[in-house]
Parts: sequence; C-alpha cells; structure tokens
Amino acid sequence: MQIKIKEVPSVKTKLVMPTNEAIKEAGEIIRSGNLVGMPTETVYGLAANAYDEKAVKSIFYAKKRPQDNPLIVHVNSVEMAQSLALEIPKLAKDLMNKFWPGALTIILKKSKNVPYTVSAGLDTVAVRLPSHSVAKKLIDEAGVPIAAPSANLSGKPSPTKASHVYDDFSGVIPMILDGGDCNVGIESTVVSLDNDIIKVLRPGEITIEMLSSVCENIAIDDAVLNPLREGEKISSPGMKYKHYSPKANVTILKGTLENFCDYFNENKGEKTYALVFNGEDKKLKGNVLTYGSDTKDQAQKLFSVLRELDKLEAKEVFVRCPNLDGVGLAVYNRLIRAAGFNVLEV
Ligand code: TXA
Ligand code: MG
Repeated sequence: MQIKIKEVPSVKTKLVMPTNEAIKEAGEIIRSGNLVGMPTETVYGLAANAYDEKAVKSIFYAKKRPQDNPLIVHVNSVEMAQSLALEIPKLAKDLMNKFWPGALTIILKKSKNVPYTVSAGLDTVAVRLPSHSVAKKLIDEAGVPIAAPSANLSGKPSPTKASHVYDDFSGVIPMILDGGDCNVGIESTVVSLDNDIIKVLRPGEITIEMLSSVCENIAIDDAVLNPLREGEKISSPGMKYKHYSPKANVTILKGTLENFCDYFNENKGEKTYALVFNGEDKKLKGNVLTYGSDTKDQAQKLFSVLRELDKLEAKEVFVRCPNLDGVGLAVYNRLIRAAGFNVLEV
C-alpha cells in the first residue's frame, strides 16, 4: 500500500498540559478512534486504541511507517497484559515483577484480542507497562490497551519533548499531552524469550546487567550492533530500517579526545559539527554541541541533539563514541544507526 501523509485530513492540534481534564479528553479521543501524542518515561508515543484496527492503521499512515513493523501495546496492569497474550511464561512474569512499570517491552505470543494490524501479521505481541503517570492515567481513562510507536515520522529521531511531536504531527493529530522532557530519552529495552533465554532485540534503560539479575542466560541479537546482512532473518522488524537519522552525514570517531580534536580540526567544513561529551567542548574550536556527561545523561539528550542538528542544517557531524557499558550500549545502538554504521578509529 502506498503511504501518503496527505491522505490524513488536516486537523487543529492542541498541545496541552496533562491536567486530569485534558487526560480525560485524550481518553475520549482514543476511544473515538483518533490519535494522541502521549508522554512516557522513555520517549513520546503516538497513541491509539489497540483494539481499533482503523485507528491503528492511521498510526502507520501518520508516521509513514512500513506496514511490516509491529507496534508496542501499552497496558496499565499485568492483568491487561494477560488479556493480550496466549500465555505468560514464568520468565516473563519474573521480568514483569522486577521491571514493570518501566522501560522494558516483552514479546509474548499474542491472543486473539490483538489485531494483526498491531502485530504486523506476526503471532506475537510486544507489551509494556509504562511508569509515566500521564501514560498510566491515559490508559485508565481510555479503558483499553494503547498501541503506540514512538511519535516521530519514520526514520527521524524519536521525540523526547512535546515540541518534537508537534514538529512532526501538527495538523495531523488532534491532541498532544505535554509531559515535559522524557526522563530516559531513548526507547524501551525490547526482549523476546526462548525457554530460559532472554534475547535482547533492542537495548535500553533496562540494561543487560540488570536483566541478568533475573536470568543468567542472555543473548544479544546480532542486529543490535551490526548492519543487517543480505537475506538475513530479522527478529525485530524495526531493526532493519534506517533510524534516528539527522539529515547530516554522521560519523562516530572511536579514540581519545585528543585524536578526535585533531581529526575534527583537519576535516571540518562550514556546516561540520562536533558532538562531544559535556566539558569537552572547551577543547574544540568551531561548531560544537554536547550530549551529556555519563551514559544515562547521554541517553536523555541524544535524540534532542540529533533533532537540533537538523535545525542547524548540519551537513557533517563527528560524534564522540560512548562507553558501551550499561545504558551506553543503547546509546551506541541508536548512534550507529544514525551514523549508518559509519565508525572510524582515530
Ligand atoms: O519506549 C518505547 O518502547 C516507545 C514508547 C512510546 O513506549 N515505543 C517505541 O515503539 O519505541 P517503536 O514502534 O518505535 O519501536 C518498537 C520496536 C520496533 O523495533 C518493532 O519492530 C519492535 O519493537 N516490535 C514490536 N512488536 C514486535 C514483535 N511482535 N516482535 C518483534 N519486535 C517487535
Ligand atoms: Mg520508533
């Protein structure tokens, strides 16, 4: 099917504070089959009633999202998750007990309650119980599970501020709830379960180290750190698409700060930017942006700074390589996609 954003009729988009009244209205909008920009602790979501196939289809239209990329369903209780799944294995229960509400999405076998539009034809469903109070209240008000991908146009960096959602969907969706800046800043960790093994399909705030407190057997999907090989079967369809990309050509530079500075100075042009860690900007002359101090802070700031680079019309960006421990793995996973796997040792 051809996806054209023009097919979505133009509407006036309300950007509002999440008062009880506003959340009530947002719940009604969801029940009536329309979309709402919803804050979560990870990134903003583009929310629809997961049971309403027409509403779910309009998410794909609005985002220009490939039809084979399934959506995450957000719930307000383990019971609601149970109604979406054929069964909840013990390992899934243990993960829910430990990490819900929070930034962990679990892939389960889907029940017949989940339309195939949500799962993009798969027999599984991705489920998450968010910790953000506005997201929780919105699910309560809507009274249904909420299907929500990140609220960005497909391919663009995920939104961590209500204004990012407004930039992408003003005139397309009726309401955005402004919950302020997202705390985590990158999308949830996505895992699938195979008997006693946890497979990490997308790293996030819930780290490998944290998951290993529940289960020792953890596998990291190949696609987390590597480009997809020709003809390779993919565990999570989202991993095969170009992602998080500013318009500029992005290169990750691995090596010392000193070598980074030398490389930047030798290769910079008028619209070239350096993206470095807090405090390092003083060492560089030219266009320099920072993206945080420790890896948690880098996660929180990364998408916002990638969007800023577009506004600045950056043509070339050289980025300091994050540490790969803890949340750093997730930061690196998003960055190598933004860079189209363009990594240089300096
Ligand atoms: O933090 C988050 O996860 C945010 C907020 C809004 O909750 N949502 C989000 O959704 O990032 P989205 O659609 O941008 O990413 C969902 C990822 C995609 O890579 C998709 O392919 C994968 O989850 N996914 C969804 N359902 C799946 C399934 N049944 N099997 C494998 N992967 C699945
Ligand atoms: Mg997304």
